[in-house]
Amino acid sequence: KRHLISAADLTHDDATLILDTAEELARIAGRSIKKLPTLRGRTVVNLFFEDSTRTRISFEAAAKRLSADVINFSAKGSSVSKGESLKDTALTLQAMGADAVVIRHPSSGAPHRLATSDWIGGSVVNAGDGTHEHPTQALLDAFTMRRHLAGGPGGGPTFHRGPGDGTGRDLAGRRITVVGDVLHSRVARSNVALLTTLGARVTLVAPPTLLPIGVEHWPCEVSYDLDRALAGCDAVMMLRVQSERMNAAFFPTEREYSRRYGLDGTRMAALPEHAIVMHPGPMNRGMEITAEVADSGRCTAVEQVANGVSVRMAVLYLLLGGNEPAVTTHRTEES
Ligand code: CP
Repeated sequence: KRHLISAADLTHDDATLILDTAEELARIAGRSIKKLPTLRGRTVVNLFFEDSTRTRISFEAAAKRLSADVINFSAKGSSVSKGESLKDTALTLQAMGADAVVIRHPSSGAPHRLATSDWIGGSVVNAGDGTHEHPTQALLDAFTMRRHLAGGPGGGPTFHRGPGDGTGRDLAGRRITVVGDVLHSRVARSNVALLTTLGARVTLVAPPTLLPIGVEHWPCEVSYDLDRALAGCDAVMMLRVQSERMNAAFFPTEREYSRRYGLDGTRMAALPEHAIVMHPGPMNRGMEITAEVADSGRCTAVEQVANGVSVRMAVLYLLLGGNEPAVTTHRTEES
């Protein structure tokens, strides 16, 4: 495949290949080999029309660790603020020889539009589009779950290892509870698609006003009872309340929200012993998650960021360098 637009496009084999490649790349980085020559001479453009900390920085780190040249484009301060269109921006990037464009955009469908246009010749990677999808976030979340819940093939973290298959490859039957602002969450959409492809069972918990129309057709369960959904889960993923996309009329008061849908120390203590607490970031401390939980050893938010670099390296490698010999056969450079 030339592009990564949607987690829903990935087969079980596709996703497993990406996750296994990320594991291999993480293993190499663990041997203090910080840079691989795989994408030398290739250019990756980070095209961000919306704010980002984690995704933009980790795509940049991933591309650089594969020796690609990186151009960072932020709509703020660019000619987009003078009204330049996506098409003309893309044509400008094409003229600079972009081999891959990593795009974040407030409009759902913008990466698909770019990938199906003839404006750009290279691969397109969706780094989050509107409320639609954020496939690399779902991949790094699955990578993190595999390490904790199924055991890491490279001897990954052993913290609270759950009843996995012991190979580090299988999330089949794992129970994942996703909580919060599902309505606005591209992270939730991508996770539901990817986790179910990998065989996990997903339960969404949200206020009725923060569930999208048609959610009953998603391949997951829906519950309004957080405590019940936490009782038997292997991982709980707290979603950010997206105030910037919120119609205030649909939102309970902050106090009511955190009481009914927030994760605090008492709820965390009621989780199964092996269960992990996830958050894609950025976090609203005191809203969907208390500082006590966010800073606890069970919360993988910072580890998820670190895993994001390996996963994004794998995606760029497979899209741009996948015909090269296997990663481990490349001559490597000590940084
Ligand atoms: N999780 C995530 O996408 O974070 P950023 O918005 O900081 O990239």
